[in-house]
Amino acid sequence: MPYDASLPPARPFLWGAATSAYQIEGAAAEDGRGPSIWDTFCRIPGAIADASSGDIACDHYHRLDSDLDLMRGLGLQAYRFSVSWSRVQPAGAGAVNPPGLGFYDRLVDGLLERAIAPYLTLYHWDLPQALQDRGGWGARDTALRFADYAALVGRRLGDRVASIATHNEPGVVAELGHQTGVHAPGLRERRLAMQVTHHLLLGHGLAVQALRAVGTRLPLGIVLSAAAVHPATGDAADVAQARLEDGLRVRWTLDALMHGRYPADVLEHLGADAPSVRGDELDSVRAPIDFIGLNYYTRTLASAKPRRLGPAPRVVTDMGWEVVPQGLTELLLRLHRDYRLPPIYITECGAACRDRLDDGRVHDAQRVDFIRQHIAAVERAVDAGVDVRGFFVWSLLDNFEWAHGYSKRFGLVYVDYPTQRRVLKDSALWYREFIASRQQQRA
Ligand code: FCB
Repeated sequence: MPYDASLPPARPFLWGAATSAYQIEGAAAEDGRGPSIWDTFCRIPGAIADASSGDIACDHYHRLDSDLDLMRGLGLQAYRFSVSWSRVQPAGAGAVNPPGLGFYDRLVDGLLERAIAPYLTLYHWDLPQALQDRGGWGARDTALRFADYAALVGRRLGDRVASIATHNEPGVVAELGHQTGVHAPGLRERRLAMQVTHHLLLGHGLAVQALRAVGTRLPLGIVLSAAAVHPATGDAADVAQARLEDGLRVRWTLDALMHGRYPADVLEHLGADAPSVRGDELDSVRAPIDFIGLNYYTRTLASAKPRRLGPAPRVVTDMGWEVVPQGLTELLLRLHRDYRLPPIYITECGAACRDRLDDGRVHDAQRVDFIRQHIAAVERAVDAGVDVRGFFVWSLLDNFEWAHGYSKRFGLVYVDYPTQRRVLKDSALWYREFIASRQQQRA
């Protein structure tokens, strides 16, 4: 057959969608689930924009079968979800909660019955409150408890999922949860935040080792928040600030994961705020992994002095995040060049829009454009030789967007919260067509 340049690469590329436990499940106090730090945080007055919580969220826990049918209807090839630690191990250590594990059993089996590959994430921000009471990620012991939890999930589900990621965005957990305080547990101390990054990464490495020790042969990895960092201007001070922010957000984690060291320039900048690292902990952090997940939404503009960003022509989503698809190509090429990364998945990419239900339809043309442009950005990187294996839209459903509550909608599927009715947005219809056409091309 003659070569057809319009064909995608021969290697299978997965098209999926992503969610996380606290953002969709609800059923916060049911079937033995223990409280997590997000249950506690949501009760602090002023913490959540609309004073809401994930108590009910999308009620996914009770609507599992119909949500699985929804995924099949969209033709998803893969689904990324997270396990709620406090649902399967309510105190974060010790006793396991069988009904909680049973829920994930049903989820995984339901995906497999529908030929959807299950991509499991162990930690998407909902630490059991009992562990927070003992110091949370500021305490080294939490990393050890995380490894135990990983092993128990691996033993139960490791025979059926497609892969296991340890953390979702450890850098964001450290910064927003422990430095700026806008996420649970709401702490504000840079020294602590840096110690937390280290314990999260240590927990990752120990979890990988524990999963291997229980015989898991699955691909194991971690999901990182990824941004191309650009200086706001050509001023030397802004360029230096961009280098520092890239160090804190990108090199800090990847140098540790890939090389077992933290970058010297960032350590110097941190001075007394640098984390304490014991013995051979960094050897555990760099335990071999099989994939890296990248979540991409926008770029970071760095400036030495706080300044107001320039006016239009910046195009932004409802989060106020600038739309910069070429930043994703740039980031992928750069990571490919600077690190010998294992295969990459785009584990989250998507947009919040001001969606309105209009006569049974949601016309979210901005989201369709966003997704299309970002897929094209990934494909440019693939054409240039970067090994990317899949793309997960954030998110399958509108859901609880952390400190923004329900005020921001990221779903392909609209959720009418009072009735819990699901409505496919135009973007869902578009994605369904897109996946089907890609499948046909490969057939
Ligand atoms: C990511 C989170 C995800 C969602 C999106 C918008 O940082 O991983 O849960 O909140 O942002």
